[in-house]
Amino acid sequence: MHIKHLLSFLSAILISLTAVRAIASEPLLIYSHRHYEADQKLFEQFTEQTGIEVQVIKAKASELLQRLKSEGENTEADIFITADAGRLGYAKQEGLLAPVESEILSKRIPAPYRDPENHWFGFTLRARVFVYAPDRVKPEELSTYEALAEDTWRGRLLSRSSGNIYNQSLLASIIARTDAKTARDWARAVRQNMARPPQGNDRDQIRAVAAGIGDVAIVNTYYVGLLHNSENEKDRDVANSVKIFFPNQETSGTHVNVSGAGIVAASTQKEDARKLLEFLASDEAQKSFPLATSEYPVVAGIEWSDLQKSWGTFKPDSLNLSKLGQLNREAVKQANLAGWE
Ligand SMILES: [Fe+2]
Repeated sequence: MHIKHLLSFLSAILISLTAVRAIASEPLLIYSHRHYEADQKLFEQFTEQTGIEVQVIKAKASELLQRLKSEGENTEADIFITADAGRLGYAKQEGLLAPVESEILSKRIPAPYRDPENHWFGFTLRARVFVYAPDRVKPEELSTYEALAEDTWRGRLLSRSSGNIYNQSLLASIIARTDAKTARDWARAVRQNMARPPQGNDRDQIRAVAAGIGDVAIVNTYYVGLLHNSENEKDRDVANSVKIFFPNQETSGTHVNVSGAGIVAASTQKEDARKLLEFLASDEAQKSFPLATSEYPVVAGIEWSDLQKSWGTFKPDSLNLSKLGQLNREAVKQANLAGWE
């Protein structure tokens, strides 16, 4: 071969190698509604282990969903991460998520905490519990979500707006085990028992219990943990002054929910995306959540943090969380009819 030809041959190989490298090293793009530093650390560990780079765009869940919808087939996103099975179910219903076949995910994540058709997978668990003021409420006075409808709680309850997905999913779980009217009557009674109109987020309800504005708040467990581990001394005092009660232990179990992920339907890197989902279900990732965010692991046999152990063990509701997405519209409707703004 003439030297000139050899050179062009070699440079052609080089160019194609570069092209292959460019494709292989294209980062995974995650649309995440979670804003924890610990998540970023996990993604870095994933990159170290697999060589797959990860980029994250963080925004509110509603913004990310809107963006996925408007970008459609042209989206660069590969993975959607958000809190609440209601939202994950919505993303599935809108056709934004692709099914994933993964033995690892089906084996490690218990069935209630993933979509039966594999469009999304929970990777952290949280319980929606009662936080109460121990100087005004004895734990024997507490029992079930249903019992919060009783007159003894008039002017004593706290919860955020029903516009929030966490309360919508709690109501959806009540519809799932009873019916729409029972859930509506419950929502109306609980709203009437509130110490003030719904306002603020879950953390604000816990602060309001500590401040004596109400006696019992309906909130997610990890918010007590986030206040407990806060850099703000006032918030640490708040966390130390309240107690957690797990409702429905003698009946249906405490309402639980997940933070989860799915692969974007239009992703062009589904293999790498699946690897990231499998990484989130690994022992390594699962062990980090209790310590970093006070969320429970979804995988069985992973150790809880000392703080979580101090809250005690509990029986979770065994409802398949995909129901929460299916019943979300109905839950929103019943909350509105009940006057829970
Ligand atoms: Fe949250």
